[in-house]
Amino acid sequence: MFTRDQALVLWKKYNASESLFHHALTVEAIMRSFAMEHGDDPEYWGLVGLLHDIDWEMFPEIHCKKAPDILKEIGADDAFIHAVVSHGWNIVTDVKPEHYMEKVLYTIDELSGLIVATALMRPEKLNGMSVKSVRKKWKTPSFAAGVNRDIITSGAELLGEDIDSIIARCITALQPKAEELGLGA
Ligand SMILES: [Fe+2]
Ligand SMILES: [Fe+2]
Repeated sequence: MFTRDQALVLWKKYNASESLFHHALTVEAIMRSFAMEHGDDPEYWGLVGLLHDIDWEMFPEIHCKKAPDILKEIGADDAFIHAVVSHGWNIVTDVKPEHYMEKVLYTIDELSGLIVATALMRPEKLNGMSVKSVRKKWKTPSFAAGVNRDIITSGAELLGEDIDSIIARCITALQPKAEELGLGA
């Protein structure tokens, strides 16, 4: 298995955007937290989160289709590639999230965008942010309009978990990382 440093070098070879980097770190942090909660490997889940959008900046037209080639550069195996590619299910790929980890990634990718956008509206950012604040923004379609709410809903259905609980666990996962994620209060 490759290291996080190798993953970061690869990420920087194909991406330069700071906001995209914050997104990668955000998804990584949430994935690590859900892995620990699930009694699984936070390193592995974290790397999947960190690299899930590896091909987005340079190959937006073939998002998730270019990723396998790029990931093979550092020796990612088929399981890792499947996990990354399945986050584009029903959007850019027909690769369905099968494993619990893949379903989490699918759900929290879009959801994390809504959570971060909600936090950025608050002076205290993530500090003391409630599920209710996120839900309120969820109901405003013009807010973070790029966040596809239907995907979050279908992800939660795949997981068989309550969306409010998922939101709460995401917020908790991100709070200790706020500064690093550009969400310092
Ligand atoms: Fe993506
Ligand atoms: Fe993403």
